[in-house]
Amino acid sequence: MLPQWIIEKKRDGQALSEEEIRCFIEGYTVGRIPDYQMAAMAMAIYCRGMTAAETAVITDAMMRSGDLVDTSSIKRPKVDKHSTGGIGDKVSLILAPLVACCGVAVPMISGRGLGITGGTLDKMESIPGYRTDLSVKEFVRVIQRCGCSIIGQTGRLAPADKKLYALRDVTGTVPSIPLITASIMSKKLAEGIDALVLDVKWGKGAFMRTIEDARALARSMVNVGTHMGKGMAALITDMNRPLGRCAGNALEVIESVQTLKNEGPADLVEVTLALSARMLLLAKKAKNEKDARAQLKKHLASGKAYEVFQEMVRLQGGDAGSLEKLHQIHAASLQEPMPATAAGTIAAVDAERVGKACVILGAGRTKTDDKVDFAVGVSGLMQVGEKVTKGQPLVVIHANDENRLEEARKLLDGAFTIRKGAVKEPPLVYETILK
Ligand code: URA
Repeated sequence: MLPQWIIEKKRDGQALSEEEIRCFIEGYTVGRIPDYQMAAMAMAIYCRGMTAAETAVITDAMMRSGDLVDTSSIKRPKVDKHSTGGIGDKVSLILAPLVACCGVAVPMISGRGLGITGGTLDKMESIPGYRTDLSVKEFVRVIQRCGCSIIGQTGRLAPADKKLYALRDVTGTVPSIPLITASIMSKKLAEGIDALVLDVKWGKGAFMRTIEDARALARSMVNVGTHMGKGMAALITDMNRPLGRCAGNALEVIESVQTLKNEGPADLVEVTLALSARMLLLAKKAKNEKDARAQLKKHLASGKAYEVFQEMVRLQGGDAGSLEKLHQIHAASLQEPMPATAAGTIAAVDAERVGKACVILGAGRTKTDDKVDFAVGVSGLMQVGEKVTKGQPLVVIHANDENRLEEARKLLDGAFTIRKGAVKEPPLVYETILK
């Protein structure tokens, strides 16, 4: 079976057999199939799509291209959450320790920010000493001790995805539902989990621009996970506006700590509770959503979730004492409030503009090897539905460079829509997709 025959078959719109898909992915991982043939295959898949059965096979082949994390020594149910990414999305930092408080193990292998969306690893690395590069053995030990761990992808986890993602990035083949499904799910399923909750975001600050695309991606990922015997649920959530009041690495850790102390903004708390409740239900640790939410709220109110977070930070080499001082440790040299030019109600906050402003300030990266500035970003973002008076700050910009501040100011200037009269707040969670 020559690679070009398999490419031709997909080019002509036919479904590939399991053997053909496995042979292609295996050949590509070991270097027998060159980049140019994989690129042609990715384009054929982009144009012709894949059936649910083909998508499940390519995901499984990519998952098996490297190591599988052995979590069998962890006796609790193991459930993770994955977000397709957004602006101000710091849910993982709160959710992992919170869900761990309820007797669920949360093995979380996270990514870095790329483009306008932030990454959990960059946020965690703004905590002095915190190590995201644990070995698999250390990862499992941290979960055994405190119930959760947040680390980065090891080189040996789904290496086929690592190679293929880089290739897709430069061949116009990223926005393909079967390829995105295989990419995300191969990494998540290699974590050794029993169940997975997906936060599929749609809107101006998300990868999926329409709710229809988000729904199609969510269904595809839920189907694959279910096919592989995992408990699955996906929530379709709003990313037309940023989540919470802060975006930027250390600023988001500060907001996460506030939320873990039960003083978080309502939208962030709601999305965290909705996703966490689904995890408890999949782990069979709650009778129903109401019971799940009651347990979760109790652990936020008692400070237990914050204690678990501090313990995880300590176990991963971080200075838990620094969590209360991050605003001093990572203080941007320029902190400028941006005043409202009119009075009224906030009708919209453009997540894309906020995300772009953060990248310009240096909080994000446009290339995988860019360095991020932990201190910069935005805080005090006003939210949809809030009343504002003329001159009141809509946001505070944190910058370390005058020119970047100026550029960010221009972007943020157009980010807020202020209207006279009442504004109806759009939903935070649009839909839940189960198997
Ligand atoms: N995130 C991933 O990990 N892979 C994709 O293909 C898209 C988003």
